[in-house]
This record gives sequence, structure tokens and C-alpha cells, in this order.
Amino acid sequence: MWNRIHVTPIKLKRKYMNKAYQQSARLDALTSPVLIAHRGDKTRYPENTLAAFEAAVNAGAEMIELDISLSRDRSMVVIHDDTLERTTNGKGPVNERTLSELKKLDAGSWFDKQFAAERIPTLREVLEMVDRRALVNIEIKKSAFEASAPDDAIEKQLVVLLQEMELTDSVLISSFETRFLERIAALDSALALAAISTETADDSTVKSLQELGIYSWHGWYGILTTEIVKQLHDAGFRVFSFTINERVVFKDLMNMEVDGFFTDDCLLLRGALGNGGVHN
Ligand code: G3P
Ligand code: MG
Repeated sequence: MWNRIHVTPIKLKRKYMNKAYQQSARLDALTSPVLIAHRGDKTRYPENTLAAFEAAVNAGAEMIELDISLSRDRSMVVIHDDTLERTTNGKGPVNERTLSELKKLDAGSWFDKQFAAERIPTLREVLEMVDRRALVNIEIKKSAFEASAPDDAIEKQLVVLLQEMELTDSVLISSFETRFLERIAALDSALALAAISTETADDSTVKSLQELGIYSWHGWYGILTTEIVKQLHDAGFRVFSFTINERVVFKDLMNMEVDGFFTDDCLLLRGALGNGGVHN
């Protein structure tokens, strides 16, 4: 039997509130715990497909997470791996195929034959389908970073697309690669940014992320402790953790006052929350 856990939104120290936080009214409105559908409802649907995202929205996810990289002809496509084998019937690197070639691939049968019609979506297609019904956490894959920063670099295309679609208030852009975050902050300071890490943040990293004005810090659950979460809260960041698929881990992280949870199964975590608390 689990103890009931009281859930309250965090209150940031005003001196640390950064520009992105103040400008992210939709994010700010999300009270903790925020449930984030990791690659959509990937428990029941093939990850990073329109079917998985639609299901996650219908399951009540406040935010959906997806991964983007570039096709050979420089379109932003939604797929986690750098290669096609695991989640499609294609082969080789994603960035060596044109969008038209990628669109011919079956992105669903690997999961279940009934999803054979699923295709690798473009970022625009996902954003159009979600249509503001949930916030979208767009993770830019580290491998898409280009030191030369060409005019059609992924981070530049992303900012242009979000501005054109008037969705700058409805997204949270994250990456393991902080140079993406630096570049995006310089392109549009209204966009909320998040650093992802599988390691704890030392003081100098925290300071540079504060200077960058990130909104949240996304950490692998295995490295989090109450002290680390407090340090990150004191720095002004919300703390979201990945990837939480077990109630017992969820409960531990709630006790640490983690603010949001990437999960493959929103329905499971929503069930764990019950009527306002974590219990059986
Ligand atoms: O953003 C949280 C999580 O998605 C990071 O890891 O490998 O699932 O993209 P990965
Ligand atoms: Mg991801």
C-alpha cells in the first residue's frame, strides 16, 4: 500500500525565474506532476508515429515528446534512432534518405502488423495533428548538430517553423547537445528550452544553463536524489525525469518533488495518481 503523496506545484525563487520561464505561460500553467508521453503512447502504438501521438493526446498527456533529425534533403522528420532498422522496414542512416524515400517506409509493422500504414511523420505533420491539444517537447537528436551552422541547419528550420505556425508558446525544445540550445536562444528568446542529461549537473553547468535561461532540466531517473532536485529547483529549473514506467519509481521520484515524468505509458501513471495522490 502506498502512502498518499500531496502534490503541489513548485514555486520558483523569483530571482532565478528566467526569461523563458516567464514567457512560457502554457508551460507555467501545468501543475506538477506533468505527464509527458515519451515518443507518444509507445506502449500501445509504434513510437513516434501519428497513431502514437493521437493516442497519447487522447490518454490525457499534457505533453508529448518526440525526436527530430534531418532527412538527406533537409526535412525535419520524427524518428528516434539515427538508423532505420529498428522502427521501419528500411535500412541505413536516416540522413542518407530523402523525405520521399522515407515516406515509402512502413513505420508500424515492426510493432504490430495492424500499423503497417504508419509512416515516419514530419515535424509539421505532428504539430498540425496535435493542434495545440497538448504541449510538444521537441528533442533535437545530438547527431543532427552541424558545427558549420548552415542556413538550413535543423535548429534554424525549427525556429522558422514554430514561428510560422505560431506555436512558440506551445513547445519545449530539448537536447543532450547544449549548443543547440545556445543557438536557439539566440534565434528566438521566447522559446522554452531544456537540457537533457544522464549525469548530474555540476555548479558550472548549472550556472551556464541559468545564463542560457533554460526552463527545465531533464534527467535520467537513476541519478536523481532529493538534494539534486532541490539544487536544480533552487537554480530555477523545473525537473523532469525519464523514462518512468513503474509505479514504484514514480512514487520515489514524487517524494523527491520531481515535477514531470516522461513515460511510455501515460495511462499507468495517471492511474497511479488516482484522485489527487499516489496510492495503490
Ligand atoms: O527527452 C527524454 C528522453 O527522450 C531522452 O532520451 O533516447 O529517449 O530520446 P531518448
Ligand atoms: Mg527523446
